[in-house]
Parts: sequence; structure tokens; C-alpha cells
Amino acid sequence: LASIEVDLSAIKEGQAIKTIFRKQPLFVRHLTAAEIAAADKVDPASLRDAQTLEQRTVGGKKQWLITMGVCTHLGCVPLGAGEGEVRGEFGGYFCPCHGSHYDTAARIRKGPAPKNLEVPKYAFKSDTVVQVG
Ligand code: FES
Repeated sequence: LASIEVDLSAIKEGQAIKTIFRKQPLFVRHLTAAEIAAADKVDPASLRDAQTLEQRTVGGKKQWLITMGVCTHLGCVPLGAGEGEVRGEFGGYFCPCHGSHYDTAARIRKGPAPKNLEVPKYAFKSDTVVQVG
């Protein structure tokens, strides 16, 4: 299966882009320090799908959050990467289909989705280029 390269250099802090990976939406978000802090202050044991931001990012680069843009409930595309930045109650992504709220680490916090947004396999090729897949 094909991998893709994503250029991170144009994604400003606080922004996210939506691209396509294996025919599905992929979100690439450049987290702010405040968003990283918000994710880190949550006790993972309190979460439905217990993961830290560190476990959901690669190489200590916690500012780069790369996830599939596919709600783990029934597969809608959550809002939050564009579209006027509707990001839900926890500041990450919001799925309007049945109201799932994801936090700044794209972890499910409220609503019917059972799992966090999936993190695909990826690696940094340089400071500004990531290979996904
Ligand atoms: Fe996202 Fe149902 S598909 S909440």
C-alpha cells in the first residue's frame, strides 16, 4: 500500500490540515503549547481509550498530531481541520453525525465513539517532512 509524504512547513501552530491517505481523510495538526498542556494534564486512566499524547505522537514531537479523519463510531469525517474550525467541547475535533467530541490529542471524550481517532504509522524524514504509511 502506498505511503505519502506531508510537508509540515506551511502548517502554523494552532492549525490543522486535511489530506488523503489510502483514500481516507488524514488530519495533520500543529498543536500549540496550550493544547499540548491540555492533553498532558488529563489522567489517561480517566479516558475511554487510555492513551497519552506521547503515545499518540512520534519521536518526542508532541506538537505534531497525525490521525485519520474518520470517526470511530460510524465513520463520518469529524470537523476541526478547516470548515471554520468547529472543534467540540474538548478543543480537538467534533463529529456532527452523532456528537462525538475529541480532545487536543484526538482522544474520544464525549459521545458514542468507542476509540480515539486512529494514529497511522508514520515517521519523520526531516524536521518538516513526514512519511505516513
Ligand atoms: Fe461520528 Fe457517529 S459517526 S459520532
